[in-house]
Amino acid sequence: MIVTITNLDHNGRGISKIDGKTCFIENALINEEVDIEITSEKKKYMCAKVKNIIKKSEDRVLEQCKYAKICGGCNIMHINYDKQIEFKINKIKEIFNKFCKININIDEFIKSEQLFYRNKITLHVSNKVGLYKEKTNEIIEVDNCLICNKKINEIYNILNKIDLKNIEKITIRSSEITNESMVIFDINSDIDIQKYKDLLINNVTTFIVKKNNQYDTIFGKGFIYEKLNDLIFKISPDSFFQVNTLGAQKLYSKVKDYLGKNNNVLDLYCGTGTIGIFISDISLNVVGIEINKYAVCDANENKKINNISNIKFICDDSQNVLKNTNMNFDAVIVDPPRSGLSKDMINSIFKIEPKKIIYVSCDPITLARDVNLLIEKYDFKKISLVDMFPNTSHVESVVLLEKM
Ligand SMILES: C[S@@+](CC[C@H](N)C(=O)[O-])C[C@H]1O[C@@H](n2cnc3c(N)ncnc32)[C@H](O)[C@@H]1O
Repeated sequence: MIVTITNLDHNGRGISKIDGKTCFIENALINEEVDIEITSEKKKYMCAKVKNIIKKSEDRVLEQCKYAKICGGCNIMHINYDKQIEFKINKIKEIFNKFCKININIDEFIKSEQLFYRNKITLHVSNKVGLYKEKTNEIIEVDNCLICNKKINEIYNILNKIDLKNIEKITIRSSEITNESMVIFDINSDIDIQKYKDLLINNVTTFIVKKNNQYDTIFGKGFIYEKLNDLIFKISPDSFFQVNTLGAQKLYSKVKDYLGKNNNVLDLYCGTGTIGIFISDISLNVVGIEINKYAVCDANENKKINNISNIKFICDDSQNVLKNTNMNFDAVIVDPPRSGLSKDMINSIFKIEPKKIIYVSCDPITLARDVNLLIEKYDFKKISLVDMFPNTSHVESVVLLEKM
């Protein structure tokens, strides 16, 4: 069946109408004429794949990764970078229009390197090792991942050649700035640790085995250091750290820019303390709150390493701390997980009455949902986008809200 693509959905899939029903078509671009095969049909929509492109868009480029169509991680690699940016801007504008009924302008779109930007990969093992095909548990065998940095690919190549029996999952994290790298094996049964130790000792700085939620450092420090500008950050295996290091630097600079000088700042969902430490030099005092105990240990260590005296970290659920606090803050920064903020959390932030709220998010839908509640008492001032994830349909947003 031949159809013409009229639009893109938020995952970068082409959209066409077939007998009045919406059809989502992987790997198809606006104005393209494509011969498709329907892969699934539901009551309200159907999905299809392209068999043949009859009329090609000028925005189409040849994917640099040979696995792009199979793996699905880089789901917009077939679109040239300028159009990827346009797609992300339009997506965010549409989402804000839908959820907040506001027409936003993008203050700044901050680009990233398009390849080799990731400092972390999670590999899945079951007879073979590879990446999960997006939204499935199907393992795609690959021999490289072009969006991961070169050291990760080097380590992956070593692991790819050997028997990984009884290993469930492998995480590789590597900093191109400090040249430190860590490999974490998730296991459920016993493995020949010496064999893997011998293999990795000259290639990674630390090797960790995780069994029953316990971390056992086989060699090295058990963590790595990463650098953002002149600041050093300790990252433990279980701590969150932005996967695009240079992108994170740009993201936090934008937060700093929106924050301005001389504020008492509350940094909610602070992870290893990155944002709080990054903005501490222009702030009066900073309090960071984080639920993950490993991340809070890292944050306290990061405070020490970077010689910061005006920051304090609390290990707790943000909601608990805010419920019982009578602290005063000029500004609240939130960078929650994809699920966003609860209504209780938003009400707790309202009670603090900060002059500014800066909301950092990688999920525009929960972001817009929450902003729609926050704009009851706060003016939407600015939004910038940081392209932390080129070649994928994801983008990081930073929103500035100011008290009415
Ligand atoms: C998107 S990460 C942001 C981390 C940090 N701001 C950064 O840029 O590296 C979200 C963080 O929120 C933490 N978190 C999740 N739920 C939480 C909660 N209820 N209270 C406090 N922290 C929480 C996670 O452990 C994670 O470190």
